[in-house]
Amino acid sequence: MSTVLQTIEEAAAQLEAAGVGFGHGTTNAFDEAAWLVLWSLKLPLDSLDFEQNRPVAATESSQIAILLRARIDTRKPAAYLTKEAWLQGVPFYVDERVIVPRSFIAELIADADGQSTLDYWLREDTQNVLDLCTGNGSLAVLAALTFPEVQIQAADISHDALAVAAINVKKHALQNRIELIRSDGLAQCHGIQGKPYDLILCNPPYVNSASMAALPAEYLAEPEISLAGGADGMDFIRPLLQAAPKVMSEHAVIVLEIGNERTFFEQAFPRLEAIWLETSAGHDQVLLLTRDSLLRGL
Ligand SMILES: C[S@@+](CC[C@H](N)C(=O)[O-])C[C@H]1O[C@@H](n2cnc3c(N)ncnc32)[C@H](O)[C@@H]1O
Repeated sequence: MSTVLQTIEEAAAQLEAAGVGFGHGTTNAFDEAAWLVLWSLKLPLDSLDFEQNRPVAATESSQIAILLRARIDTRKPAAYLTKEAWLQGVPFYVDERVIVPRSFIAELIADADGQSTLDYWLREDTQNVLDLCTGNGSLAVLAALTFPEVQIQAADISHDALAVAAINVKKHALQNRIELIRSDGLAQCHGIQGKPYDLILCNPPYVNSASMAALPAEYLAEPEISLAGGADGMDFIRPLLQAAPKVMSEHAVIVLEIGNERTFFEQAFPRLEAIWLETSAGHDQVLLLTRDSLLRGL
């Protein structure tokens, strides 16, 4: 009978041999295999150290083999098979109606010790937060958990995404703090109770057309509307930055994820003074703009 660790190592070898793509919660075959095996065994995902020598029964091995086959044959990200993803230690429901949550903005909301990089940019009276392009609602939920005083609107153009976000808002019992709204960009985002936003979080569709054409199969399983940002990736961002100052309070900031598109961003907005925020992905994937910098630089 194999142990948990042996089962994970065998699964990792199969994932490697099949050439599956990573990037939806894990970055390598061993971590992906550990996720699938531990989930299949109904063990906590952080329990490998304690459970590595536990024997895996034949029936459990069969279940794991089925899950692994599905991962390899469909190329769906693991989270679509398990219907669960974790961000900063917080669990979220996920299915094919939304991208698998992995925004680096999550790290800035709260790090592993619960400290928030964004605190520096917020004021005592920060009250209204917008999570634009909310997808499964994960950034809105993390913001609500980190900043107990704030009210949040979470907006998305996709009915499907909002349906998934509703599941997560309910899962974390945040219905009183997070309002879900359907909006194309900022069109329906007018502030909260007559007051503008103090903080806007946004992980928009930003992948440029050339990169879209070269995406691994795992990314093609995600809704295209979540990723595709037009020829230079800036189709959503251009009108957003134009419209944002009107709905931002005087000292408000916008935190924007742009992935690998820094060059395109700087070409599109050459006069904008962006503050690049360090995350585990480096220092050019997430930027911060003050309302003043938008007014001066556009
Ligand atoms: C990259 S996903 C981000 C989802 C989530 N915030 C996260 O980080 O996992 C982008 C989201 O933007 C939404 N979206 C695309 N175009 C939009 C638009 N014009 N207005 C509002 N939301 C839009 C998509 O439906 C998708 O949920």
